Amino acid sequence: MKILMVCLGNICRSPLAEGIMRSKLPGNFFVDSAGTIDMHKGNQPDKRSVKTALKYGIDISKQASRPITKEDLNYFDKIYCMDLSNFKNVISLAQNEEQRGKISLLMEAAELNHASGEVPDPYWNGIDGFEKVYHQLDEACEKIAEKLQQELSQTQH
Ligand code: 4NP
Repeated sequence: MKILMVCLGNICRSPLAEGIMRSKLPGNFFVDSAGTIDMHKGNQPDKRSVKTALKYGIDISKQASRPITKEDLNYFDKIYCMDLSNFKNVISLAQNEEQRGKISLLMEAAELNHASGEVPDPYWNGIDGFEKVYHQLDEACEKIAEKLQQELSQTQH
């Protein structure tokens, strides 16, 4: 099963989400991330994301930012968006119902009752924001990873 994490720049939130989700899933899952803008294309994740992930034993330093493409909506099975603005942008790339059905807000898919239903953009604030985002993502990815493994085992039997 192929999973794509999406935020705006693909340097702060979705690289963390990619690293965390990969750490929770077995090797038959493929996890990637992308941004809705190409401003940071080719760049390493933000130093604050790299540092926060490393604190919890996850190395995201080898990732490189890339913009999402229409082809991603064919290729991936599940596309998780960090906030509503990302969600709207990705939905606007969808060409049919099947593609639309793959796209969700990460927090909704995790069925977690966070006030806003979004993973807030930590880019403009300090390292504390990255720490909070890390824990929010960790909790959400834990729930989604469980669900995805159940879903996969049901389709294989
Ligand atoms: P991200 O954070 O979407 O979590 O990667 C941001 C990265 C860059 C910008 C905004 C948010 N920016 O405006 O460049």
